[in-house]
Amino acid sequence: MSEHIKLLVIGDILGKAGRKALRDHLPHLIDEHAIDFVVANGENLAAGFGTTRKVADEVFDAGVHVLTNGNHCWDQRDFMKTIDEDDRFIRPANFFPEAPGQGWTIQETALGHPVAVINTIGQIFMNGTWNCPFEAADQALSEIPSDVKIILMDMHAEASSEKMGMGWHLDGRVSFVYGTHTHIPTCDEIIHTSGTAYQTDIGMTGSYQSIIGMRKEGALHRMLTRLPQRFEAVDRGATIFATLLQCDLKTGKTTHIERIKVNPSH
Ligand SMILES: [Fe+2]
Ligand SMILES: [Fe+2]
Repeated sequence: MSEHIKLLVIGDILGKAGRKALRDHLPHLIDEHAIDFVVANGENLAAGFGTTRKVADEVFDAGVHVLTNGNHCWDQRDFMKTIDEDDRFIRPANFFPEAPGQGWTIQETALGHPVAVINTIGQIFMNGTWNCPFEAADQALSEIPSDVKIILMDMHAEASSEKMGMGWHLDGRVSFVYGTHTHIPTCDEIIHTSGTAYQTDIGMTGSYQSIIGMRKEGALHRMLTRLPQRFEAVDRGATIFATLLQCDLKTGKTTHIERIKVNPSH
């Protein structure tokens, strides 16, 4: 009988509300589903804008093994230093080579099984300039030792088509290609023909009584008036959206995928 590993994938964690929801519920989810490894996106941990050591430690302490990132990566200045001090942080591999930090990492489960996590960022409808995510994915896969079978890719991108493209590009080469960034979960989770699981967006862990995690008044006012507004994160009442995977340790292929929603009372 083949051995399996269970992984939980969490999308963009939005500010205080998202962090509190994870602190309150992640340890229980890990026990309930016998989860070996947890990855989350940290680009919005600090009130919606980037990551700091302090807020990252809150989610690491709750059970997260790796924090990926995205277009908000450098919103907090100190993070350029922090990312180089701890290899549980990664940033998109297709940022320009001058960027601090790494585009992928390998961490171990409590039982010593290695898990690789790669981060890329899309080029379509995104504010920013970076290199090709497909080339960066190929490069990362050429560098990851071949005995590491469990490989996850967070593709932080707006366009669902570009994310689906990555899903097929990596089919048979990684365990899971999933999207983050839109803050809205999609229900298209699937296991492709060569064993790679795919989902267009995991969804945000944050308040949905909002506009993608931000107070609706400010965001709506900006839409109605086209005037600049300060965006403020909604700081309570988060829903957790996450995706649970079961993968074959020998082949790295995904054998089961399931979406999870935890909706604490507001
Ligand atoms: Fe985000
Ligand atoms: Fe983003």
